[in-house]
Amino acid sequence: MIPPKGKPLSDFPSLPPGFRFGTSTAAYQIEGAATEDGRGPSIWDEFCARPGTIADGSSGAVAADHYHRYAEDVALLKGLGAHGYRLSVAWPRVQPAGEGTPNPKGLDFYDRLLDALVEAGIEPMVTLYHWDLPQALEERGGWLDRATAERFAEYAGHVAARLGDRVAHWVPVNEPNVTALLGYALTAMAPARGLSFDALPAVHHQLLGHGLTVQSLRASGAASIGTATNHTPVWPASDDPADHEAAAFYDLLWNRLVADPILLGAYPDGFAELMPGPVADDLKIIASPLDFYGANYYNPTAIQAPGKPSAPATATAAGHVEVPSDLPFQFAPMTGHPRTDFGWPVVPEGLYELIMQLRERYPSMPPLYITEQGCAYNTPPDADGVVDDSARVAYYDAHLREVARAIADGADVRAYYAWSLLDNFEWAEGLTQRFGLVWTDYETLRRTPKRSYHWFAELIAAQRA
Ligand code: NOJ
Repeated sequence: MIPPKGKPLSDFPSLPPGFRFGTSTAAYQIEGAATEDGRGPSIWDEFCARPGTIADGSSGAVAADHYHRYAEDVALLKGLGAHGYRLSVAWPRVQPAGEGTPNPKGLDFYDRLLDALVEAGIEPMVTLYHWDLPQALEERGGWLDRATAERFAEYAGHVAARLGDRVAHWVPVNEPNVTALLGYALTAMAPARGLSFDALPAVHHQLLGHGLTVQSLRASGAASIGTATNHTPVWPASDDPADHEAAAFYDLLWNRLVADPILLGAYPDGFAELMPGPVADDLKIIASPLDFYGANYYNPTAIQAPGKPSAPATATAAGHVEVPSDLPFQFAPMTGHPRTDFGWPVVPEGLYELIMQLRERYPSMPPLYITEQGCAYNTPPDADGVVDDSARVAYYDAHLREVARAIADGADVRAYYAWSLLDNFEWAEGLTQRFGLVWTDYETLRRTPKRSYHWFAELIAAQRA
């Protein structure tokens, strides 16, 4: 399965001309400099400060210190030959309390970063919200409060006014389904509200924030706007109709609850009645036309009816999650697949299935971008300092072949962004899970490109030739 060293790419299928490769990161996961240049506190600073929330007790206070080392990281991207780079802007750097006059020093950082990217010939894709809500807004209700969606669109307007001339693609909100489920329904991530189904307004207001921002970006002349939504093919654990019913419900909750409003302008099956505010009017905003649909894929999810022996928590698409027992579904064990060091199943054909499923469900969907795809393998440097992460090479090789197969079968996939450029702060897992193409030494903050980085560079060069 692992391509031999030296000539790994000889039989790799050609992707269509113009297909774009990139890598993704997020502000809180790489920047550090958490109190510098007027940055305000975010819900993640607050969450990390609570004892017992982060696996290794770490936080994003330093992370990969990208705030000070961005020039080196842009050079790494250039060395990779990447066409694009997906980064996120930290809202609390731009508006430390989530509203009002922007902090010029916060915007200056992204100004420098975007200049460096453009200078290196790399197209910036900018995510405006990758989970670091200003703490001041959380204290007024966070995403449970409709006003947060309005503040978000205002913040987007400030970012677009200062940086928009260099942004090739915009993503308003990263994975609204993950924050709503893990941060508002459960307590695995900030802001750890644990509200179960009372978390539904957090879905609606993030979607409304997305829609209002699409409109505000359009008004500022933005050319390319999309999403980065987490998707998982949902597999019923058995032929038992109860498992099928449970799987259909989970599919609805995880996949359709966010994709249907954005792509069809409607909530699935009775959910509209559970949402706050003038939902019919809001849906028109949420469904504002997009230039691409961005999907993040990690693995499929096996689901069964409640009351059966359940899966270890690590088998879920979301990571280490304890799910309350009163829900109409349960995570089922997924056997027969290799696993990453994080414990997530490695299922490349799930990416093909996902692409085809999106295409079938949403026939008028704009071109699809894979806005995240990657794996945590923690292979350390050997005695010579070489990081031989062959498992990651095999992972990317297999998944990219599935993208090529989907394209050959008619899917319009135009871009693929690997998660992640470099090892970084993996939320509640802290620094314990390494997703990077580049090794980050958290003591010295030295970067070492892994074997997978060199493999990717070869792949991109071969596809560009
Ligand atoms: C998706 C999230 O957007 C990203 O922040 C996270 O690190 C990866 N998944 C891996 O869990």
